[in-house]
Amino acid sequence: MRVGFLHSLIRKEEKLLLDELATRSDVEVVMIDDREITFTLGQARRDLDVVLERCINHSRALHALRLFESQGVACVNTSAVAATCGDKLLTSIALGEHGVPQPEVRVAFTPESAIGAIEAMGYPVVLKPAVGSWGRLLAKVNDRDAAEALLEHKTTLGSYHHSVFYIQKYVAKPGRDIRAFVVGDECVAAIYRNSEHWITNTARGGSATNCPITPELAAISLAGARAVGGGVVALDIFESDAGLLVNEVNYTMEFRNSIAPTGVDIPAKIVDFALARARVPA
Ligand SMILES: Nc1ncnc2c1ncn2[C@@H]1O[C@H](COP(=O)(O)OP(=O)(O)O)[C@@H](O)[C@H]1O
Ligand SMILES: [Mg+2]
Repeated sequence: MRVGFLHSLIRKEEKLLLDELATRSDVEVVMIDDREITFTLGQARRDLDVVLERCINHSRALHALRLFESQGVACVNTSAVAATCGDKLLTSIALGEHGVPQPEVRVAFTPESAIGAIEAMGYPVVLKPAVGSWGRLLAKVNDRDAAEALLEHKTTLGSYHHSVFYIQKYVAKPGRDIRAFVVGDECVAAIYRNSEHWITNTARGGSATNCPITPELAAISLAGARAVGGGVVALDIFESDAGLLVNEVNYTMEFRNSIAPTGVDIPAKIVDFALARARVPA
């Protein structure tokens, strides 16, 4: 079997996946660097059984996946999953359409209408770029003065990505949130991300400890994964007075900090899934 390994830089996660692939006797890995590959539209590609996507850049991942699919290659994840998960607004829509609990979200297109939406929700709220990660450019807005300043700055200084205002109700978390990993039909592992800061990403200094997979956590994780199209995903989940809420779903997740605390061989689970998808094209 030939596995296309679509990547940019080889980070710790890619190294772990490549090490795992190297243990599989019937697998040949074809390295595909997104900085070098070109596609000729209309040409089928018969030398790959599956592509495992590990790009850093969302738009490269999304478009490369779509191109591989059009060439007849099965992909993990699918381009449809990447399109939904790469955009927080599209993710929220999918979660809503599938009845998966999430924090209240409102959307506006102008600073004036955004202020109206924020005041109707009540403070604090969180504004986020619809496309983004690692906790970057997140803003917790505690009052109207801050809201007005932030909206003016976004309008004047922001790029295209800041022209849609994604406004989420702030959820008072208990000093942590949950990162749950779903591979196919299984919630395979979960960690608490503990932080003094309201932004708990491990990329921003949050620390990881094991989180028991309760039936409630497994159910909402699988429902969230299904809502975005399934595959290999990691969900950010908040504990709230109203129960668990899905904040976002990530499709090229990092997992380096989650193997030791959970004791789960996450790369092995991902490789198993990718090889199974190769045999049964999506
Ligand atoms: N509405 C919210 N209420 C409370 N905390 C939030 C909220 N939105 C984000 N956070 C915190 O910020 C972190 C990063 O936000 P997230 O939406 O996951 O963006 P990113 O794609 O950058 O990870 C979350 O894991 C959480 O700790
Ligand atoms: Mg996140």
